[in-house]
Amino acid sequence: MKTPRPDGLRFIASSLFFICFLYVLASITELRFDSLLKFGRRALANINMPSAQLYNSSNTLHSSPNITSLALNSSSNDEIRVLFGILTLPGQYQRRHFLRLIYGTQTPVGAKVDLKFVMCNLTKEDQEVLVALEIMRYDDIIILDCEENMNKGKTYTYFSSLPEMFNNTNGVYPPYHYVMKADDDAYFRLQNLVDSLKPLPREDLYYGYVIPCSSMEPFGHYMSGMGYLISWDIVEWIRKSDIPKNHIEGPEDKTFGDWIKNGHRAKNRFNAKWSMYNFPEPPTKCTHELWPHTIAVHLLKNQEKWIRTLKYFNVTDNLKPSKLYHIP
Ligand SMILES: *[C@@H]1O[C@H](CO)[C@@H](O)[C@H](O)[C@H]1NC(C)=O
Ligand SMILES: *[C@@H]1O[C@H](CO)[C@@H](O)[C@H](O)[C@H]1NC(C)=O
Ligand SMILES: *[C@@H]1O[C@H](CO)[C@@H](O)[C@H](O)[C@H]1NC(C)=O
Ligand SMILES: *[C@@H]1O[C@H](CO)[C@@H](O)[C@H](O)[C@H]1NC(C)=O
Ligand SMILES: *[C@@H]1O[C@H](CO)[C@@H](O)[C@H](O)[C@H]1NC(C)=O
Repeated sequence: MKTPRPDGLRFIASSLFFICFLYVLASITELRFDSLLKFGRRALANINMPSAQLYNSSNTLHSSPNITSLALNSSSNDEIRVLFGILTLPGQYQRRHFLRLIYGTQTPVGAKVDLKFVMCNLTKEDQEVLVALEIMRYDDIIILDCEENMNKGKTYTYFSSLPEMFNNTNGVYPPYHYVMKADDDAYFRLQNLVDSLKPLPREDLYYGYVIPCSSMEPFGHYMSGMGYLISWDIVEWIRKSDIPKNHIEGPEDKTFGDWIKNGHRAKNRFNAKWSMYNFPEPPTKCTHELWPHTIAVHLLKNQEKWIRTLKYFNVTDNLKPSKLYHIP
């Protein structure tokens, strides 16, 4: 039986309409999905410091690498990923608590800065409980396979362990563009650090405060142990090369400089002096007055020096007003 003409037309019209409808629906969904992605990306961009891990939902997001890689797009491709490792001892609970305050209240824009405290094997029963609790609460601890030491290879173990520790990042490579080794008596202003990194190469980079203090020549010697930063390719080189492996002992920052020199690495170097410096007192060749263009202040050996530094940089200016408290 032949289909009557009018019915055929109606069929075509309704099919067309249906196709249009599907198309509109698809566009709307895509739009939503897009904004969802953007939102997710923004949310992720802010998740870096322990303070952001207060909420269960953020933790869930954070630990889902699929969302991270999906959400990576134009602007977040530019986002710098920094592993900020502070070398510490298992028993230094108070110091870690303090540094979490210092870094957890900074939210640098344009980078994801992951703070980690780096220690060797635990040796006491109380540490097994207390450090485990810290990990449960903050998840910001790396325990290396070593015995605590300062100048007998902890730095080597730190860098050379990272490629394997972060080998599982579902397509995001490198897991970090840069890795920092910082002292626990240095105060870093993360936004200034990030801003200083933005124009720099992401390969073959060695960044820090040039030693000796009077020198401004980054290719002369090495960077001070107060805090130096290297690109991920150098981290991988440290893992693979025999040069670091065969020269472990000695002042850790100088030893590190020897590896770089003997391995002919780091054609890119950045001397952050005098944005990085030692606390002004007592004055030496390595000190500088506190000043606005600061990335790091080192040798904050007591509370008074910390307080003076934090006050100078107005770190509590953004405290939100509330009926619940008054701070003169
Ligand atoms: C927190 O997250 C875990 C899994 O990530 C879930 O099992 C738990 O119910 C969550 N707790 C709250 C209070 O949402
Ligand atoms: C991803 O980047 C491209 C190119 O810049 C842009 O057109 C697109 O809208 C972006 N997508 C998302 C989900 O942000
Ligand atoms: C560190 O601890 C691990 C696990 O308990 C152990 O296998 C390793 O031998 C220890 N390393 C050192 C250097 O003590
Ligand atoms: C990382 O994982 C891949 C695949 O599982 C493996 O081939 C590679 O050797 C690993 N690299 C390191 C440094 O562990
Ligand atoms: C801290 O705040 C004071 C008063 O507002 C201001 O004069 C000073 O420049 C600020 N210091 C820095 C380092 O931003």
